[in-house]
Amino acid sequence: MMTNLITVKVLLLWFGFTRFITASPISFAATPSSVRKVIDPLILNCTFQNTNTQLNTSDHMPAEIVDFYMYISKGDGTLLASVARNLPAEAIHDPHFMLVEGQMNYDNISYLQITWPSTLFDKPIDNSYFCSVHVLIRSGYELTFQTNVTVSFLTPSYEDLIVYLYRQRRELEHKSRSINDLKKTLSNTSHDLASLKQGVMNCTSRLHQLSLELSSTTAATGTLNQDVAMINQTMYRVIFEANGTATYLHSLQSDVKELKLFHNELTTHVEQGVRVYCGGSNTFVSSGYEREMHLVVPIVFQKPFPKVPVVTFSLRILDVPKDEHLRVFAYTQNINSTGFEMVCGTWDGSFINAMDVDWTATVV
Ligand SMILES: *[C@@H]1O[C@H](CO)[C@@H](O)[C@H](O)[C@H]1NC(C)=O
Ligand SMILES: *[C@@H]1O[C@H](CO)[C@@H](O)[C@H](O)[C@H]1NC(C)=O
Ligand SMILES: *[C@@H]1O[C@H](CO)[C@@H](O)[C@H](O)[C@H]1NC(C)=O
Ligand SMILES: *[C@@H]1O[C@H](CO)[C@@H](O)[C@H](O)[C@H]1NC(C)=O
Ligand SMILES: *[C@@H]1O[C@H](CO)[C@@H](O)[C@H](O)[C@H]1NC(C)=O
Ligand SMILES: *[C@@H]1O[C@H](CO)[C@@H](O)[C@H](O)[C@H]1NC(C)=O
Ligand SMILES: *[C@@H]1O[C@H](CO)[C@@H](O)[C@H](O)[C@H]1NC(C)=O
Ligand SMILES: *[C@@H]1O[C@H](CO)[C@@H](O)[C@H](O)[C@H]1NC(C)=O
Ligand SMILES: *[C@@H]1O[C@H](CO)[C@@H](O)[C@H](O)[C@H]1NC(C)=O
Repeated sequence: MMTNLITVKVLLLWFGFTRFITASPISFAATPSSVRKVIDPLILNCTFQNTNTQLNTSDHMPAEIVDFYMYISKGDGTLLASVARNLPAEAIHDPHFMLVEGQMNYDNISYLQITWPSTLFDKPIDNSYFCSVHVLIRSGYELTFQTNVTVSFLTPSYEDLIVYLYRQRRELEHKSRSINDLKKTLSNTSHDLASLKQGVMNCTSRLHQLSLELSSTTAATGTLNQDVAMINQTMYRVIFEANGTATYLHSLQSDVKELKLFHNELTTHVEQGVRVYCGGSNTFVSSGYEREMHLVVPIVFQKPFPKVPVVTFSLRILDVPKDEHLRVFAYTQNINSTGFEMVCGTWDGSFINAMDVDWTATVV
């Protein structure tokens, strides 16, 4: 309000040297124009029609408004309300007893309005009011439009006052009922609010609980993951070991197979020589011993034995001349897995036509 007063003063100074025109763009009305004190409300409405053609300057040229300002004052000059650019309509005097509204509109109608709901004033009020509009136009001219209204105040009759009081009481009762209803609603609302609050608290605690559960679940999941990893590792190791075992088993099997073959061979490998010519005296050579002659017949087995076999032999044919001493010997020597040597011979000059042997080699 102080700001407004200052603004008003500044603006008044600014418009100080302007001409007053009591002309048409401004209109000011009092409703009603005859007011029964206390009983009737009073409305003062000042309107300003901003149409350029009406704002003729002294040059009679249409004017373009740059700025303007409105206020309502009492007959003694006391400012009551004002409205200006960038300032809302506002009561300047006695704001507790009156309602002020208004708006500035550059292109159209601007207005400023004061309403007294009740005209019970603590001091006698003027019956003359002024509305003033200060206008600054583009060419630099400042114009002031001013108009006045006169309000007559009547003293209400006794009857009027009775009716007024009765209406006031009815209104009061109505308001008190409304207040009671409002109180109930408020109580319901506060109850609703309390239960809402409870609900929110429940939600919060549930949320807290859930978050706890979640964190424990997360922890459990972590442990579970570890377990799974361990099981997975173990599984892989088991598979690896199983594979190793299978491989080992496989090699064992082939070993067994080989061993079986070997054993088979050991138990079944037999070779025989039939009618092996073991020589006669004419093929014998000196054995190195005195008067002893022999023949060494090398025998090679068809297939090598897995180990040194036992060789047995028997004399099959012995052919000697008549009336001769019979002196023969036969033996085996150098027996190994691939063969042996059959040795046949005689001594002291005995004569032998021929010797044949049969042999058998086998493993035990
Ligand atoms: C006052 O004047 C303005 C502008 O013409 C209008 O909008 C408003 O309704 C008027 N007030 C009353 C109480 O007539
Ligand atoms: C304003 O001036 C124009 C011509 O410039 C004239 O026609 C018109 O009547 C004038 N208006 C008033 C309100 O003086
Ligand atoms: C001015 O106001 C009148 C009535 O309030 C309206 O009919 C008219 O369209 C307005 N003009 C502009 C330019 O706002
Ligand atoms: C109010 O305006 C009328 C013309 O509308 C004028 O005769 C009268 O002198 C004015 N009253 C005052 C106090 O200026
Ligand atoms: C307040 O709540 C009560 C019981 O829930 C209901 O009967 C009553 O109509 C409510 N009042 C209002 C004003 O909402
Ligand atoms: C909140 O929880 C309490 C106790 O668990 C329960 O009695 C009450 O009904 C709940 N309130 C709401 C609004 O859910
Ligand atoms: C299981 O272990 C193997 C080998 O260590 C790895 O490649 C695989 O990603 C693991 N799988 C899981 C589900 O942990
Ligand atoms: C099992 O072992 C063999 C030989 O060691 C290997 O070639 C094979 O890839 C292995 N298999 C698996 C499933 O590990
Ligand atoms: C078996 O004896 C013969 C004659 O002495 C020899 O040539 C051969 O190398 C021997 N074989 C083995 C496997 O010792």
